[in-house]
Amino acid sequence: MEEEFKFIRGKLMPMFYHLLYPRQTVLVVGATKEKSNLSAVAWITPVSAKPPLLVISLNKNSTTLDLICTSMEFVVAIVGEKMKDAVLLCGTTSGKYIDKFSEAKLAQVKAKQVSVPLVLEAAANIECKVLNYSTAGDHVIVTGEVLEVHEKKNGKEPVLFTKGKKKLFGLAVD
Ligand SMILES: Cc1cc2nc3c(=O)[nH]c(=O)nc-3n(C[C@H](O)[C@H](O)[C@H](O)COP(=O)(O)O)c2cc1C
Repeated sequence: MEEEFKFIRGKLMPMFYHLLYPRQTVLVVGATKEKSNLSAVAWITPVSAKPPLLVISLNKNSTTLDLICTSMEFVVAIVGEKMKDAVLLCGTTSGKYIDKFSEAKLAQVKAKQVSVPLVLEAAANIECKVLNYSTAGDHVIVTGEVLEVHEKKNGKEPVLFTKGKKKLFGLAVD
């Protein structure tokens, strides 16, 4: 996701998506009975209010994607500025090699409607069930139906955004 230029159909092109930053960055949790994992995700957007739907776009090689397609559930953790280091770790290392919850010092909390854990330290957690997924080039677009929302009422920490290229910053939102 981070290269600035790529050969596309024989032509060296600047990556268009840099024009679409900054973007809010979240942690997406995928889990089966055997394993829980997190990935940093900036390619996320709501797409429907009724029913409540959001989409995430995950690289085909993502371990989180594998877990999501197995359990057909996932959690979106809305993260604040304080979780910057944890997000960088979850966005630069594959869950194939490490236990990201433990390495990033994040705690798991039981969710209400899905078997995937919530992230205790997150400002909010959104429980989703997978409605469908489809390939889009080198990524897979997962549509999730929102089943439950957990939001911390105390404090308004700046929300984490990325400018691309692993540059993260907090932005205060009311
Ligand atoms: C700020 C930031 C945003 C990212 N956004 C996405 C994204 O939207 N989709 C994606 O597939 N990967 C994204 N990545 C890269 C993944 O988080 C990274 O490849 C991660 O290692 C995947 O972990 P996994 O294999 O354990 O799922 C992002 C990385 C960073 C640092």
